[in-house]
Amino acid sequence: MMLREAVLKTLKQKQGHWVSGGALSQELGVSRTTVWKYIKSLQAEGYTVEASPKKGYRLTIRPDILSGLEVQPELNTTLFGREHYFYFKEMESTNDYAKILATQNYPEGTTVVAECQTAGRGRRGRAWFSLPGKGIYVSVILRPALPLNQLSRVTPAMAVAVADALHQLGLKPGIKWPNDILVNGRKIAGILTEAVTDMDGIEYIVVGIGVNVNYQLEDFPKEFRQSATSARIELKCTVPRLPLLQELLLRVEQRYQQMLTGGVAAIMEEFRRLSTVIGKDIELDGLQGITSGRAIDIDNNGFLMVRDAEGNIHHVMSGEIFVKEPPEEQL
Ligand code: BTN
Repeated sequence: MMLREAVLKTLKQKQGHWVSGGALSQELGVSRTTVWKYIKSLQAEGYTVEASPKKGYRLTIRPDILSGLEVQPELNTTLFGREHYFYFKEMESTNDYAKILATQNYPEGTTVVAECQTAGRGRRGRAWFSLPGKGIYVSVILRPALPLNQLSRVTPAMAVAVADALHQLGLKPGIKWPNDILVNGRKIAGILTEAVTDMDGIEYIVVGIGVNVNYQLEDFPKEFRQSATSARIELKCTVPRLPLLQELLLRVEQRYQQMLTGGVAAIMEEFRRLSTVIGKDIELDGLQGITSGRAIDIDNNGFLMVRDAEGNIHHVMSGEIFVKEPPEEQL
């Protein structure tokens, strides 16, 4: 164990109580100055360690920090976030970083987490608002041995995993196809799936997940205040991010495994059940331009089935949906 971890471990064991500098230096076999150096580095990371010349050191509240040191000990996954866990206080975009790691051959399950992002990215070239401490910004590397035509199954599996984790918090999430997670009609989480493929199939996939955890309405830029929400806004209390990230990684691993081992139909069933668009009249801005019609179903590849005015059914892989609200008198 690294010395810094050892200092933290001792402080945690005695959380709320004073531990003398002498005792720490004896226990760890280092000088008091070295102990102080590690205390300062823990403080810099966000731990509230009080220091008193007479009494020593005391860890007060356990901070909501998403470092490997905090996340990994109670992480119930077998692969995701275990061996390769990268943590940054600030990062441009965890997806960009995970892509670099993927090109350096980091394996499936490699996880990148940041406390805040300076260039967080959303779908369709949009920015993803990423304030420090208010959200979860995580990316994972996947290397599925799947034929290319099954690539479209990955994002639905991930969307269901995010919904699972939010459900566990006591929320009732819905999924706006293809991968916006909504609560009470407002967006609480988004997923950005980026894949690199070659002639032989999928080289790697980076799945980036952003969850609005402790945002308050005024934290969002004005233009999002109508359409965005957070766990804190919905539950009316602050929500610790640490257990939510642990749950999220577990659900991501489980749904991913399920998808690879014959469970696609079950995942799609859940995806349809959570869908907020099936049965609605929509306008869809996709690769083939704008399609209008009724969203009638989602097929087992995750494609949205849209029936147009002529009765033709289109299977659409990706796009952005605008739900047409029925006129007032029909409500
Ligand atoms: C969307 O709904 O448009 C997708 C949002 C995805 C945001 C996450 S936050 C972690 C990861 N890093 C990024 O730059 N984007 C994703």
